[in-house]
Amino acid sequence: ELGGHAHFMHKEIHEQPESVERMLTGRLDDRFGTAKLGGLNLDPRELRRFTRVKILGCGSAYYVGQLGASMIEDLARIPADAEPASEFRYRNPIIEPSTLYVVVSQSGETADTLFAVREVQRKGGTVVGLVNAVGSSIAREVDGGVYLHAGPEVAVASTKALTHMSIGFALLALALGRVRDLSHADGKRIIAGLRAVPGQIAQILAGEEELALAAKELAPAPSLFFIGRVRGYPVAREGAQKFKEITYRHAEAYPTSELKHGPLALISPELPTVAVIPDDDLVERNVTAAQEIRARGGAVVAITHPGVELGDAATRRIEVPRNEVELDPILLTIPTQLLGYHAAVALGEDVDRPRNLAKSVTVE
Ligand code: BG6
Repeated sequence: ELGGHAHFMHKEIHEQPESVERMLTGRLDDRFGTAKLGGLNLDPRELRRFTRVKILGCGSAYYVGQLGASMIEDLARIPADAEPASEFRYRNPIIEPSTLYVVVSQSGETADTLFAVREVQRKGGTVVGLVNAVGSSIAREVDGGVYLHAGPEVAVASTKALTHMSIGFALLALALGRVRDLSHADGKRIIAGLRAVPGQIAQILAGEEELALAAKELAPAPSLFFIGRVRGYPVAREGAQKFKEITYRHAEAYPTSELKHGPLALISPELPTVAVIPDDDLVERNVTAAQEIRARGGAVVAITHPGVELGDAATRRIEVPRNEVELDPILLTIPTQLLGYHAAVALGEDVDRPRNLAKSVTVE
């Protein structure tokens, strides 16, 4: 059942190149440079009428939702944001007919997310789902959706389903963009980027040994930071979430830009940082922030792109291949899965069944 892997989590991480390839099959439209998402039940004219996108999910699904929001803003230039479904459902949210509500869930059974769907529908809103489990409650109740086709996920800590969620958001962003101002050429650029993802994930997984070493160094620390800026911030949040779920270590995510507004006070040789430093227009600022951490004796594991000059800003360098800037976060997240996994293994924890957590929370 484990196919030679020590844990389901490891198996599921390694399934990603194949599962992503499968997910993309038939969904990329080269002729029109867009995504084919028949299950959305929204024709181009309906897709155009939305002036805002609100994404709802719980736990890791919420963090991927933040990533999705930035993809939608980047590609479709519609204001988009993500909110925990667990908060949304209890705060008497204002539902607008011109907002597209998107719920995201691996299991399709998370009670908080399901009740968010019902809250939107009761008040006349349109809600679509990015869901993995076929025929699940959320998949049945939404007005339309995109199945994630990640296959069954057994480990409580989600990995491949999250990657599929972020790709689902890229497809949705592409479809929303191409009925607005995203050009045919840009659509084709994103399609080419998506096609490269499976091979690039395989490339990252080939560097597992280096990641396992970095994880072993991080594991003894009682507390650590994950930092990233703009598109890298949801990557940091999800990285910290994964780390704390399975290692029981305190891992906290901060926007890199916020470091100097408080958390820098905590940096010391006892508090290492995982820093997301992609090769984008913020790279120099991110390197400077990492240098500030190093100057205070903190170790820095940098998740970065080839060619980024880190100098003495990092104690360990983890490289991921470059894709298109809008899609880079999909790949920057992969090393954080293996960091969490190998740290938990080094600590001797029950990787697949962390204490106090369930794979899907169907109670309120
Ligand atoms: C939480 C799980 O309760 O539910 C998380 O512990 C998960 O791992 C979250 O991300 C959302 O689950 P789902 O199935 O709705 O994606």
